[in-house]
Amino acid sequence: MAKVVHIKTFGCQMNERDSEIMGQLLSQNGYVYSDMPEAADLILVNTCSIRDKAEQKVYSLLGQLRELKEKNRHFRQIRIGVCGCVAQQEGRKIIERMPHVDLVLGTQQLYQLPALLDQLEKGELHHKVALDLDANFAIPPFQQLLRETPTQKSSAVARPVQRYVNIMQGCNNFCSYCVVPYTRGREISRPLADILEEVELLVAQGVREITLLGQNVNSYGKTNRVADQAITFPDLLRAVALVQGLKRLRFTTSHPKDLDRGLIRCFAELEVLCPHFHLPVQSGSNQVLARMNRGYSAEEYLAKVEELRRMRPDIALATDFIVGFPGESEQDFVATIQLLQDVRFHSSFSFKYSDRPQARSTGFADKIAEDIKSERLARLQQKQTEISLAWNIMLMHKKVEILVEHISAQTGRGRSAANQVVHFQLQPGRSMPAVGDITHVLIEHAGPHSLRGIAQ
Ligand code: SAH
Ligand code: SF4
Ligand code: F3S
Repeated sequence: MAKVVHIKTFGCQMNERDSEIMGQLLSQNGYVYSDMPEAADLILVNTCSIRDKAEQKVYSLLGQLRELKEKNRHFRQIRIGVCGCVAQQEGRKIIERMPHVDLVLGTQQLYQLPALLDQLEKGELHHKVALDLDANFAIPPFQQLLRETPTQKSSAVARPVQRYVNIMQGCNNFCSYCVVPYTRGREISRPLADILEEVELLVAQGVREITLLGQNVNSYGKTNRVADQAITFPDLLRAVALVQGLKRLRFTTSHPKDLDRGLIRCFAELEVLCPHFHLPVQSGSNQVLARMNRGYSAEEYLAKVEELRRMRPDIALATDFIVGFPGESEQDFVATIQLLQDVRFHSSFSFKYSDRPQARSTGFADKIAEDIKSERLARLQQKQTEISLAWNIMLMHKKVEILVEHISAQTGRGRSAANQVVHFQLQPGRSMPAVGDITHVLIEHAGPHSLRGIAQ
């Protein structure tokens, strides 16, 4: 009988894509996927370490899985694997703290999963922990990963028309608060030919929207290259944009310091590139930005925003903020609110600063009290909600083009090119569009986080 795998994914799109890859690898090794951990022979926990809270969630899930494993002990053997950023960071310590864990896989080791599981089954696994992180790691060819069995219900199947494609791994920026350069290693770019081939295959399979992924996509091609190529991120975007049948192209994440004219021009010139840009700013205070080691000032950020809007007036900007960075004064925080109001971001993710192992800021003095962080976060989010709502209200009684992502009997959901979630009902007499169709919705209701209307 086929073995059953369940994968729980925490963290960013990079982790989602890695989970997809593990699902694909396992489906070729005789596993089927289940949404229910109770039904699984193998449970993989793909972890995130970006904030302390994210890490705590992992340990609490692992605690629950110990009970599940114990309860089933007399009927069947459940294997538990931990991978992703907490695995890379904590390594053997995970097994010491959670002895019921069978395998710990670092962020470059997911491709070894079938071989290691095989050794585990045969009782030949000598090291439960595989953590090598090599600056010259070649991201393996992917062709064989793209085959999927109908029984494999990974996030790939949940998003049949929108997919992620990795273009690079790792990060060399060492922002002082961030764990990623330690958990994902050095920046490595994938060869252009591999990326293009993957996009072409996905589009031929019916995928309509591709998001190119990396921690720092606009330094693509500038750091460790797998193949010897002199290709920049704008070159890559232009090449991907030419793939016939691709309707929408997005990318995430960019670093403001590496955002140059060449990339800004792509927003004006490439029709498939969505007018939506996630450009994390983190803070509006120059002192804080300097201590974060971000490499730009608030003024430089604002100048780039202005140029982006000049090139693509309808561009929707999104960002990330950290509040309560060590030493952040009320005045620093007010500068962040000011920047939010100046740019009028369509949306943002905002987080309370959290000390991370190895991150430089963990050693900084003047940590901010938890209640002040919470109060600042609430003020920032309140302001963002007002601005997001104002943007969405501007779409009232207008027709918005969406890519349909989900349908039920009478209603559906999609996303605008600017990345707004749009729920729709059908106009009487009109038939339901299919998932993957581009359709228009006349907006009748606007909230801060979504829009609602009638499909035309
Ligand atoms: N590579 C991206 C995103 C990295 S992680 C970038 O350069 O911006 C996603 C977000 O998590 C970051 O943008 C930041 O806002 C937040 N983050 C990272 N480390 C954090 C920490 N120690 N405490 C709180 N938030 C953090
Ligand atoms: Fe972390 Fe900075 Fe790299 Fe983003 S750019 S992953 S915040 S170190
Ligand atoms: Fe989290 Fe690692 Fe992504 S720390 S945000 S899963 S790169």
